[in-house]
Amino acid sequence: MGSTNFPIDSLPDASSPLLVLTHPTPAERTRTWKLTYPKWGPALTEEDYLTREAYLTTVPLARDGGITHWVLTVSNLPPDERPILSSCESLRKRAVYVPKEGGKVVDGVAHGIASVFTEPAFRGRGYASRMMKELGQRLKGWQAEKGEGGEVEKSHSLFSVLYSDIGKQFYARHGWAPFESSHVAYKPGAGDAAVDGQVARPIGYHDLAELCAVDERLLRTDLAGRPAGKPHVAILPELDAMLWHLFREDFMTKAIFGRTPTIRGAVAGDPGKRVWAVWMRGYYGGLNKMEGNTLHILRVVVEDKEQPDEQLLDGFRSIVQIAQAEAAEWKTQDVQVWNPTPKIRELVEKCGIEYEFVDRDQESIASLMWYGEEPTTELDWVANEKYAWC
Ligand SMILES: CC(C)(COP(=O)(O)OP(=O)(O)OC[C@H]1O[C@@H](n2cnc3c(N)ncnc32)[C@H](O)[C@@H]1OP(=O)(O)O)[C@@H](O)C(=O)NCCC(=O)NCCS
Repeated sequence: MGSTNFPIDSLPDASSPLLVLTHPTPAERTRTWKLTYPKWGPALTEEDYLTREAYLTTVPLARDGGITHWVLTVSNLPPDERPILSSCESLRKRAVYVPKEGGKVVDGVAHGIASVFTEPAFRGRGYASRMMKELGQRLKGWQAEKGEGGEVEKSHSLFSVLYSDIGKQFYARHGWAPFESSHVAYKPGAGDAAVDGQVARPIGYHDLAELCAVDERLLRTDLAGRPAGKPHVAILPELDAMLWHLFREDFMTKAIFGRTPTIRGAVAGDPGKRVWAVWMRGYYGGLNKMEGNTLHILRVVVEDKEQPDEQLLDGFRSIVQIAQAEAAEWKTQDVQVWNPTPKIRELVEKCGIEYEFVDRDQESIASLMWYGEEPTTELDWVANEKYAWC
């Protein structure tokens, strides 16, 4: 059923008590995906886009109830016969924080919100605002019930995040404060395979479990050592968090190129002294419009920050060169490293590869709502990198 079945003047006001935030039926979900296709699907055929959205409910992070679809609708009409006034989804993620008093790292759940959408005929009537107002509070208690869990904080979600493509104001008005949203951009390489003769070697699926486990351990140590005074929070860069991106990438590349990549990142150095980057190729424009296509560095890790820069620099340079070659081969317009830490900024500046630094103010604005007592703006969001995006 399309919007034409619901004349605009028959729709309730955004403040009406008739409005409810609930979950779509399978048919309503498909209807929503058809509406979002022109906005987010052009790299695929509509059929592939609908298949992808269904497939994305079955992949790591999302499967087993990890993804929740939300709709704002009316309570006085039955499912499948009611208007979908606005829609979005949330993805459960493992997260941690260190309280402002300092001390131990507390485990919990965070939610990533994505695909906020109001169909064109219903826009400007306050529906997305109403949905976000309700969703922010609903997610506080969502999938975070009390359990057996010893050290595990399960009474409420720690926070929710989203990545605004409509600037900083709309979501800030509803409680998601904008955080650092910058990136380093590299141009694709000349296109020849840059793997041979490199200091770094490619990372494949089979490498990821070990690398993610080390990354998580290092991140926990880093968090525990951060100064007291404000809460430090992070979404865990665990294996499933990476696999969500890689499964999505597999679907996209298979649909667009008829094959999937084998190189998912690159690593240099010996264990204990390694530097690595994990990446994924994201497509919005497909082969027709390169501007929508980016090779995203999901996460950069330096195992030992105290080692001499020369060692790190050779490895980092080599990783970037492999990424640039992959970007060219897989038809992306650039390689992006989101919110590089001071150490990574230093490597970027010293390694001699031309780059551009971009401070975004409209697209992919990393935004967070904290469910603790402190104002969200007081938080230190650690590891605010692309892997946390959805
Ligand atoms: C963004 C969107 C969800 C808003 O839905 P809506 O139901 O019309 O929202 P509301 O009526 O509650 O609020 C409208 C506000 O949205 C904001 N907004 C909408 N599009 C915007 C844009 N491209 N840039 C900046 N702000 C925008 C404005 O602040 C607007 O306020 P105004 O009425 O004072 O101009 C809708 O325009 C949409 O689906 N757009 C396409 C998909 C999209 O971009 N989603 C956001 C992904 S982060």
